[in-house]
Amino acid sequence: MIVLGIESSCDETGVALYDTEKGLLAEALHSQVDLHAVYGGVVPEIASRDHVRMLLPLIQQVMTEAGIDKPDAIAYTAGPGLVGALMVGGGMANGLGLSWGCPVIPVHHMEGHLLAPMLEDTPPEFPFLALLVSGGHSMLIAVETLGDYRVLGTTLDDAVGEAFDKTAKLLGLGYPGGPALAALAEDGDDSTFDLPRPMLNKPNFDFSFSGLKTAVMLEVRKAEAAGRLGECRADLAASFQRAAVDTLIGKSIKAARAEGLNRIVVAGGVGANRLLRKEMAERFDGEVYYPRLAFCTDNGAMIAVAGAMRLAEADAANEIKAQARWSLETLGTPERV
Ligand code: KG4
Ligand code: ZN
Repeated sequence: MIVLGIESSCDETGVALYDTEKGLLAEALHSQVDLHAVYGGVVPEIASRDHVRMLLPLIQQVMTEAGIDKPDAIAYTAGPGLVGALMVGGGMANGLGLSWGCPVIPVHHMEGHLLAPMLEDTPPEFPFLALLVSGGHSMLIAVETLGDYRVLGTTLDDAVGEAFDKTAKLLGLGYPGGPALAALAEDGDDSTFDLPRPMLNKPNFDFSFSGLKTAVMLEVRKAEAAGRLGECRADLAASFQRAAVDTLIGKSIKAARAEGLNRIVVAGGVGANRLLRKEMAERFDGEVYYPRLAFCTDNGAMIAVAGAMRLAEADAANEIKAQARWSLETLGTPERV
């Protein structure tokens, strides 16, 4: 079975073709970063319009590359995300589903992220602990099997990606700030500033990153007042990254132990962070899995593979699902799994 995956929940248009026998056949991604950068964040209307512009050419591109006329099913991101942007992908998926006469599968964006490591040569087996860290979410999830998800902890305020982005802005870096901050941190000394590791010693598995961001803001103001911001920026970036990564790893290891799980999957945009990837593998005494770097951030391949795993739920194309908010815990396991 060949599944076309369509991702359009935010500011990346992603499409891919996944073959349940052969694996990934082709994928293409268009990032809208340049369009939104001038506004310092994602503008929903601009995002929707650009998905309209890019989706069909990208679908044509992957079909040509894979040499196929039509897929056996189409999977699309149905939420959570920006409703207008989701409607574009959902409309395209259902329209193509009708014209090709093939079933259409609505996919939960975060399930796509947590199943992205299934695209790799050595995919994780169930059960595992998932650390899902993106621009909108920081979650620890006990994954029993496909669709059986128990959220152990979540963010009480800013998601960790959001904290990276806001801290990057404080340090004068552009949008999206996560990768730029991580790059700047390479040149800094992470022991220069003693920043808080929020919630690390609390008995629960929730996260809170706004205090850490505020601590950086206070240091930025102090450095500015002393005319030393230029020379401190890399050290601040490194100290922030160290504090955020220590918190994520500390909580993940505690949660894995509490749940008796010996596999951790790290996924979502912040899963592209090299320090997080390296240290999680070093500090956890079980197995650690990640998607390749390109599949940590939003992409069509993760939606295609998640759709392939949920083929049993495919529907005749007739309804566009687009949910801004959608709890992972309500998904359930498809009958044939
Ligand atoms: O999963 P994603 O592409 O989109 C959402 O669903 O949110 O995640 C984007 C987030 C942004 O906040 C971005 O700054 C962050 O992931 N990010 C990183 C890195 N690469 C992307 N954060 C830290 N280090 C990175 N290398
Ligand atoms: Zn995402």
